[in-house]
Amino acid sequence: MIHSTLKGKGMISSPYNQDFTEHKKFLINTFNKFGGRRSSLEVNCLQIISETLNGYRNEIDQNFECVSTQIKNSLSLMTSENVFNMTFGIGMHDKKRFKPLADLITENFNSTGVAAAFNFIPLTRVFKTFIFKNVLKCSDYLNNLISEKMKSFNEDIEDIDFQIKHVTDESNIIECYLKELMNNDKFLCSFPLSNINTSSSLFNIQSKRLTEKRRSSITQNPNEKLKSNYKSFSFDHLSSIVQDLFLAGTETMSLTLNWAIIYAAYYPELQKEISDEIDRVLGSEKLPTESDRAKLPYVEAFINETLRYHCAGPILIPRSTTRDVIFREYHLPENTFIMVNMWSCMRDPTYWEDADKFEPKRFIDSDGNFKCKNPAMMPFSVGKRACIGESIARLQIFLIFTSLMQKFHFSLASKKDAMNKKLLLGIPGIGLNPPKISLKLKLR
Ligand code: HEM
Repeated sequence: MIHSTLKGKGMISSPYNQDFTEHKKFLINTFNKFGGRRSSLEVNCLQIISETLNGYRNEIDQNFECVSTQIKNSLSLMTSENVFNMTFGIGMHDKKRFKPLADLITENFNSTGVAAAFNFIPLTRVFKTFIFKNVLKCSDYLNNLISEKMKSFNEDIEDIDFQIKHVTDESNIIECYLKELMNNDKFLCSFPLSNINTSSSLFNIQSKRLTEKRRSSITQNPNEKLKSNYKSFSFDHLSSIVQDLFLAGTETMSLTLNWAIIYAAYYPELQKEISDEIDRVLGSEKLPTESDRAKLPYVEAFINETLRYHCAGPILIPRSTTRDVIFREYHLPENTFIMVNMWSCMRDPTYWEDADKFEPKRFIDSDGNFKCKNPAMMPFSVGKRACIGESIARLQIFLIFTSLMQKFHFSLASKKDAMNKKLLLGIPGIGLNPPKISLKLKLR
């Protein structure tokens, strides 16, 4: 299914080849530019959190009851907004744009859980069109947004000025990508403008216009040096990496945060430890920042235990071996289909004491500091296909979770739910969804 939608381009669905390594390198470098410490990422994320908390406050009189899916929806909105800002820049920031996008992504994740069957039971692929309709709607929506961004980028290119103007603009992934693409002589020479059907989509129209303008600018300035190191870049790849970021960076985040809140509600004694620590370190008003992470070891431990206990991706994206591999006593020939069971690593009793118990203190050392040295702790995977968003994800989860716990107390609305620990097994889908239970929010 992933191949049918992303077509092997971008990152997630790309085979392990030069295109993949260039795109991974580009995204890591770009994240480092605006995702580092005390970054625009942190400032934007805190802004989004403040708006959401104010929204919650307005709804709460004394006791505010809601279903966990309402919380999940508002978390999805926050995490999509974060990815949106990183990808498109805050210049395009407008709730009217990403609210429908966040809804489409959530809908996709809910409906495409069943699509896993396509991988194993070919007969089920007759239902493909129905499920894909939604996925394609999301992809079209994103392509239209990218076209809008390309249009303004195109208007910005002042021929000779191009290099100077865009060399300093590193505020979002699309502009950084376009800058590389428009400096890529291989692409500019080979992109087949005459074959492009401009009546088909806004994306095609903008791709054509941008390339035409750039080609004419180079013709007028033959001495201009084109110096992109990323030779594999293309418009198709751009469209796919944007989809990759929304696919990989939104539901994983909101699921993890949603589970953390549900655990806090199920275990009031653990929630008290969190609130006490936050009160001691931050008080009731100061919003958390990256630099507070080391001072809040219990919060860090709680988040890590959530990542361990209900990893957002229990079974990873299907992969294959790129060469013959000997793994333990097994010989896996080249091109063997591999499903990685991440869940088993993080519940393995040989690595974890009381593996099936939710126990944040396993991440606290004897001096009360946060420690995370267990080799089986790999919620973001390891190796060549490991998550590129780990540091961004950890920072945002910390900021959002700490802010919520600082301002609110979460509890279960129904005693019946509190008794039923089986609910905590979750609902299987592409990710592992939390149960639909009623939560009570109280201002602290
Ligand atoms: C709680 C949050 C997150 C978790 C638990 C998580 C986990 C993972 C895991 C386990 C993989 C490996 C999948 C595989 O082996 O195929 C992965 C890949 C990936 N993640 Fe994340 N992720 C999170 C957040 C993010 C964020 C915020 C972004 C970006 C904004 C992101 C971008 C990606 C991308 C692009 C890949 C594909 C890497 C590749 O194919 O080499 N993730 N993630």
